[in-house]
Amino acid sequence: MRNIYLVKFGGNALDGKDGMRQLAQEVSELTAEGYSIVLVHGGGPEISAEMERLGMTPKKVAGVRVTDEAGLEVAEKVLRRINSDLVECLIDAGVKAVGIPGYFCTECVKKAPSKVVVDGKEVTIDLGLVGEVSAVDKQTIFDLLDEKVIPVVYPIGAMAVDDKVQHLNVNADTMAAGIAAGVKCKEMIAITDVPGILRDVHDPLSKIDRVTFKDIDDLLADGTISGGMVPKVEACRKAVNAGAEAVRMVNGRDPESIVKDVIKGSNKGTLIVKE
Ligand SMILES: Nc1ncnc2c1ncn2[C@@H]1O[C@H](COP(=O)(O)OP(=O)(O)O)[C@@H](O)[C@H]1O
Ligand SMILES: [Mg+2]
Repeated sequence: MRNIYLVKFGGNALDGKDGMRQLAQEVSELTAEGYSIVLVHGGGPEISAEMERLGMTPKKVAGVRVTDEAGLEVAEKVLRRINSDLVECLIDAGVKAVGIPGYFCTECVKKAPSKVVVDGKEVTIDLGLVGEVSAVDKQTIFDLLDEKVIPVVYPIGAMAVDDKVQHLNVNADTMAAGIAAGVKCKEMIAITDVPGILRDVHDPLSKIDRVTFKDIDDLLADGTISGGMVPKVEACRKAVNAGAEAVRMVNGRDPESIVKDVIKGSNKGTLIVKE
């Protein structure tokens, strides 16, 4: 197994360009020490802001964005911009990095209308042009890493429809977990804007240090886990099931050097384990 560390961060996780620069600096130090890192990022708040600017109404169900053609276009545009900013920061920090869309290294399928738990209640929803990862071209990732190039993935997937290609919006945690499973990553770290899974979403001190799959089921059922935390815990479970040795959520706004510390074994955030 290659020792790949999949680092996913959300749109709120980093404090603007400074946060990106700090992440780039840490990635630079880690790659110099021989760590293989794959980055996957989201862009939720920026996508919503751009949609609103254009007079569109962002809608999410259980943390996943309902996406039509126009929404997909906005998501793709915003994600590309974030991606290129991040790649620029990495290159400035001396890292060889290349920005790629998810469809460069995955195949996706449209998410079937599914039952999700919203506020503890089960509802069936069709999210529109939203995908999930069905296959990973791991060789593409390995080839980049072998060349000491860091893949920086933005979560737009694609599927074939007749003889055309349909792009799909993919939740960034879902994309990260798909790739994590496909390349059999050693660890997955989801950097977000909360300290981890909280018993009370308004109380940062109510963080749970370690959760089992059973705990997650209970927290979903009683509505403790909601919104963006729903796809995030499912992504974490997928990475654990795929054999990752450690899967963790941490707060990107924590002033200490998060990625570096976490990869080197700090016990921050919430650790997700099977049992
Ligand atoms: N039990 C919970 N613990 C922590 N966060 C939660 C919980 N339930 C819902 N959330 C929400 O999930 C959000 C993180 O998901 P999301 O907004 O999608 O961020 P990201 O961009 O990192 O994916 C938190 O900011 C919080 O509002
Ligand atoms: Mg999210």
